[in-house]
Amino acid sequence: MVAVHPAKPSARAPRPARRRARDGSLGESDLVDLEAVAAGIQACRRCDLWRDATQGVPGLGPAGAALMIVGEQPGDHEDLQGVPFVGPAGRLLDRAMAEAGVARDRVFVTNAVKHFKHEPRGKRRLHKTPDRGEVQACRWWLDAERRLVRPKVVLALGATAVRAVFGKALPIGKTRGQRQALDGGEQGLVSWHPSFLLRIPDPDARDRAYAELVADLKQAWRMAG
Ligand code: URA
Repeated sequence: MVAVHPAKPSARAPRPARRRARDGSLGESDLVDLEAVAAGIQACRRCDLWRDATQGVPGLGPAGAALMIVGEQPGDHEDLQGVPFVGPAGRLLDRAMAEAGVARDRVFVTNAVKHFKHEPRGKRRLHKTPDRGEVQACRWWLDAERRLVRPKVVLALGATAVRAVFGKALPIGKTRGQRQALDGGEQGLVSWHPSFLLRIPDPDARDRAYAELVADLKQAWRMAG
């Protein structure tokens, strides 16, 4: 019997859409809306974090939101629910946003990295900080969200988000409160990550950092308004 091989695709022919969707390497022009980005994140194989995660967690909020808030990565709750900032850090962020007068449903909330990086410890899954390569690989999705949402202001919470948004490390204590122009035309701001606040043992220091987060949210909301 003669085996029939399909014609070899020419070097110029686009790769079939289904294959691209499966390996997560959708082209920029495929990412026409936030739904396409969310589907791409589920199929993403740009790094290995998908292997141990329940699902990818895309950003949440209206396209056209004037303010985008970027965290680090989904935690245990977010990984299970598929929604960003719904665990303890999310509850703290909600409280800070409410205190700052920020309407969460008018903000696009997302993460630098879309899959939960963790290691097992007994029955628990302990958070592990994503490395530079993982942050860089996932910038593809964050940049797509930024292109589609077109926020006026991007507020990066914590060191990982700062690296993803600004492309470099910035000392948060020294740079918070200072607006910085981003390549996409947005204004960038930095602040503390709510999980960092939850880990500060001294109550006075924790209160101070919380007040700073509220002040930074107020500033971001004012600039976005
Ligand atoms: N921490 C984050 O950075 N993002 C979440 O979604 C939850 C916790």
